[in-house]
Amino acid sequence: MAVTFPKGFFWGGATAANQLEGAWDVDGRGPSVDDHFLGGSVDTPREITISIDPDRFYPNHDGIDFYHRYEEDIALFAEMGFNMFRMSIAWSRIFPTGEETEPNEAGLAFYDRVFDCCRAHGIEPLVTLSHYEMPYALVEKYNGWESRELIVLFERYARCVLDRYHEKVTYWLTFNEINLGTSAAGALFETSMIRGFEGPGSEVVVTPQQCYQALHHQFVASGRVVRYAHENYPELKMGNMDCFILTYAATCDPADVWANELEMNRMNWYCSDVQVRGAYPFYARRYWRENGIELDVRDGDLDDIADGKVDFYTFSYYMSNTVTTHEGAETTGGNMVSGGKNPYLESTDWGWQVDPTGLRVALNQIYARYQIPMMVVENGMGALDEVVEEDGEKRVHDQYRIDYLEKHVAAMGEAVADGVDLIGYTWWGPIDLVSAGTGEMRKRYGFIYVDKHDDGTGDYSRIRKDSFYAYQKIIRSNGL
Ligand code: BG6
Repeated sequence: MAVTFPKGFFWGGATAANQLEGAWDVDGRGPSVDDHFLGGSVDTPREITISIDPDRFYPNHDGIDFYHRYEEDIALFAEMGFNMFRMSIAWSRIFPTGEETEPNEAGLAFYDRVFDCCRAHGIEPLVTLSHYEMPYALVEKYNGWESRELIVLFERYARCVLDRYHEKVTYWLTFNEINLGTSAAGALFETSMIRGFEGPGSEVVVTPQQCYQALHHQFVASGRVVRYAHENYPELKMGNMDCFILTYAATCDPADVWANELEMNRMNWYCSDVQVRGAYPFYARRYWRENGIELDVRDGDLDDIADGKVDFYTFSYYMSNTVTTHEGAETTGGNMVSGGKNPYLESTDWGWQVDPTGLRVALNQIYARYQIPMMVVENGMGALDEVVEEDGEKRVHDQYRIDYLEKHVAAMGEAVADGVDLIGYTWWGPIDLVSAGTGEMRKRYGFIYVDKHDDGTGDYSRIRKDSFYAYQKIIRSNGL
């Protein structure tokens, strides 16, 4: 059966400000959390430094210099046929310390230029308000989302950008991969609770109490922002964003099946149940009790959450894992999440298990649960690419990436045929950018190669990889 994607389906790519913009201290921007992260690798966690050491290399400082090259990059996206570009706004470009009462006009003007450029190419921006970052000053003063103070500060920032861009941007997401905040490892990226910490990020210690309280603050903040958008700009569409790590019970032992159920609740459902349904789920109370979590919930918080129901559901999908209660099970990689190995799946060079069928399973599970429009707003593979010279041209033959792309598009097509209301797909890292988990450039996701390397060298020139043309073909045929 020929797979048919809906007419007007959004095809595009996804990025995050801190991973591509660079220009970290330009035009009044304040330091952001990621500016304090050094580079790492698959087995060396990124290190955090409290002060910026001018003699060390911080990969996010220059990113891939999108700040100065956005016109060229957006033109390349348009050449591939994108009609959607997911990006985030760097909070510290707008409010450098997070506590100013007036925004930084130069920062606002930059995003005006980017949105105008997208629109000129017929590309719809999809904007994440917070993608793993906040002004570093808010870490120093409040320890990130641990503090309730963050709610009003985030609200101020979000209202400001909604007011400014509501005519240019229709689709918004509040927090990137909010559900990573349910584990200590993920909370490092998602909630920025790293005050006073110096050293490898993997050694940051946060308790379940801190994680779930921080998430509560984010739910309230997200709810208030969604309500503000709905009340003031009813044409806007507000979404959540979860990191969906599908897990399977490793065996048919009922104990494994139950353990997997619990893992799915924590990892994949807890946050989206709150943001899609507007209330904490039935299983939350037992989970809090058994993990020593006592939430400080103030008057009005649950109303904010109830009013913050999102219009569409979005998620990232990279891999699946397995869950078992049996001793000695092998584990596999993932930058913020690791899990049980699945003998039926292959892994990327960074240990992420590749499972296109799992994407169809995830889409069906999510849609069965919520029945609202959905977008896959991240999917992709980090790989080592080689540049070769042929007929005086530089090329990258990345058949492995094309295979990954085609299989995942096919799985989405099946899900659409299953009846899932899928409205868009944005590949992660359509252009090479700094890895969030490892800080590497060599972990490349792009259809467009960027000449930038882990020692800081490179001239930033862009090269179309073979996958550039493969994605272009997919988009031209609307997924056929
Ligand atoms: C997602 C994040 O978890 O995965 C992105 O939203 C990130 O910011 C992407 O870049 C891929 O992960 P990594 O660690 O390979 O960059």
